[in-house]
Amino acid sequence: MPATEYQAVVPLAAVPELNSDAPGIRIGKPGLVNRLLAAALLLGPGVAWTQEKPAAAPISTCIDCHGANGIAVDSGTPHLNGQAEALLANMMDSFRRGTRPPKVRIHREIPAADVAPVAAHYAQQKAQRPKSATKPELVARGETLYQNRCGDCHVDNGRDSDKEAPLLAAQDLNYLIAQMKAFKAGERKFPFLMDGAYRDLSDEDLTAIAHFFAAQDQVAPQTGRKRRR
Ligand code: HEC
Ligand code: HEC
Repeated sequence: MPATEYQAVVPLAAVPELNSDAPGIRIGKPGLVNRLLAAALLLGPGVAWTQEKPAAAPISTCIDCHGANGIAVDSGTPHLNGQAEALLANMMDSFRRGTRPPKVRIHREIPAADVAPVAAHYAQQKAQRPKSATKPELVARGETLYQNRCGDCHVDNGRDSDKEAPLLAAQDLNYLIAQMKAFKAGERKFPFLMDGAYRDLSDEDLTAIAHFFAAQDQVAPQTGRKRRR
């Protein structure tokens, strides 16, 4: 979604002048219609103001765990911000269909119509992910394993994200460890060819790779870099 369209749709509440109790411009009585009008005026001409789009993504059932900005509230929960939109939609669809067994019941109950707007919302979030505490010796060991086994698909130290491969850089450490073990244990189905990369890796190896990903800066997600595969 182009940035201008997104700006027009989502962050009304983030514009302080538009809050009824904030000092600043007022256009008639504060109210949704006036706030929308004021937003349209502020954005000015040239902005695609698409009336038919919903006012905000339906994320109210997600924010307790994933936050409104996609930063996980608790360790063990993935950060969703900056993840490629198509990847988020794929993951939500696989929870809904049960092909990725959802640990959280709400994942199975996401309405089909919510998938696209929610994926678009979280993909656009720009907050920097907070870094988990990592151990330098594990990061170093993980880096070597990553380069030999994982780097062909999770390019740029896991900082790249596309419709297939998730943004792993600065992902929550405990979430990463749990997912790697779930793949290995067969609880989560390996994507195409990833099983070969995991062959003979011990839990300690996987933990080291998780430390490596978790220690990366989350910069420039979705830069469109091509995967080497
Ligand atoms: C009770 C907490 C909780 C709620 C509420 C919740 N999630 Fe999650 N979510 C998790 C946890 C924990 C995981 C990781 C475990 C798993 O894979 O099941 C996860 C995983 C995900 C993933 C996979 C991310 C990845 O990197 O693969 C997506 C996408 C997601 N949630 C979207 C949502 C959306 C959209 C909503 C709201 C409709 C939502 N979640 C509500 C806790 C929650
Ligand atoms: C052949 C390409 C490929 C290789 C090699 C590969 N991966 Fe993946 N990986 C993927 C794809 C594609 C996904 C998306 C998973 C899905 O669709 O369920 C993924 C998902 C993951 C996830 C889940 C992230 C999330 O939030 O859902 C983790 C963790 C992961 N890979 C770790 C690794 C590690 C560690 C290695 C090296 C030992 C590795 N991968 C090697 C392609 C690959």
